Amino acid sequence: MNTKVWKVDKYVDNLENNPQVVDAARFLQQNEVVALPTETVYGLGGNAESDAAVEKIFAAKGRPSDNPLIIHIAEKKQLNAFVMEIPEKAEILMERFWPGPLTLIFKKKDGVLSDKATAGLETVAVRMPDHPVALALLKICQLPIAAPSANSSGKPSPTNAQHVIEDLNGKIAGVLDGGSTGVGVESTVLDCTEEVPVILRPGGVTKEQIAAVIGEVKLDSALLDEAAKPKAPGMKYQHYAPNAPLYLVNGSQSFLQDLIEEKQQEGLRVGVLATEESVESYQCDVAIACGRRAELETVATALYETLRAFNLEKVDIIFSEMFPNTGVGHAIMNRLQKAAGNKIIHQ
Ligand code: TXA
Ligand code: MG
Repeated sequence: MNTKVWKVDKYVDNLENNPQVVDAARFLQQNEVVALPTETVYGLGGNAESDAAVEKIFAAKGRPSDNPLIIHIAEKKQLNAFVMEIPEKAEILMERFWPGPLTLIFKKKDGVLSDKATAGLETVAVRMPDHPVALALLKICQLPIAAPSANSSGKPSPTNAQHVIEDLNGKIAGVLDGGSTGVGVESTVLDCTEEVPVILRPGGVTKEQIAAVIGEVKLDSALLDEAAKPKAPGMKYQHYAPNAPLYLVNGSQSFLQDLIEEKQQEGLRVGVLATEESVESYQCDVAIACGRRAELETVATALYETLRAFNLEKVDIIFSEMFPNTGVGHAIMNRLQKAAGNKIIHQ
């Protein structure tokens, strides 16, 4: 299959009449799959009402079929077609955070969405992306669009169109290239079917921000205890992994430097994921600054691109600094731990 690339400037006016976006929407209406930019990461979109379209998403990514997709909408009123009820706390959260990186889980109305999109669950995950190109596309096609991150299953999520092409060229109908995404880590997934909402996946909207508008919010037990079964099926898989083994280092810079030297003596080419504040202080083969520690949002923005960059550098092993587990640091650490398969070296 020839994968089309539609370049779109997200700052131009009247995107709903932009010929590139209109063309991409036509593919979605014909149940083809198209990658699209969002504020978090690129998504691989397909008509959520069509089994055929959803099957194409799973096939292109090589995604396990028990892992449900997030449904993307442009207008709140679209929810009524496929959501049973909207709890009051969900209303408050939508008002505050939509469009934006917060996915809400609702009880599902049967018979509207493809059961393959929801992996046969009785619930459905929905979000409204905060990206002008995504919103225009969704408005033109007037469909609920299922969209997982547009990477091959297991790989770091794509934060620009080039990453999508690296993974999915020839496997999808096209990519709407709207430039680099901003937030850099995926949306927060929040289960609103319980009286006290539960975070199933930390992401772009922080626990602190959610608690500030609705009060108590819990964390899924799998986020606290590795042995517990996660309620978001996708959270049980290894994800985001670079080609070389990744180790998180819980210790000082000099401890990390000792680890580098030990591995170099074994003849390995060693990479370090550092920050702008620390990158100069390591003597290794490839040190990459992943944002600024003083501003964790910049670390989130750069995280997946940095993990992919180590593949191009062909390192044999990667050591990464760790980050505080608060604010957006919670999502950063969650993704790093998954990318590392939970390998942490303590000083
Ligand atoms: O920022 C994002 O959320 C991006 C962009 C493209 O919107 N999308 C994304 O989708 O990260 P994906 O498929 O890579 O991750 C969706 C997560 C998975 O962990 C999945 O198991 C969970 O959401 N999920 C989806 N529906 C669910 C449901 N009904 N109950 C529990 N977890 C659900
Ligand atoms: Mg994903």
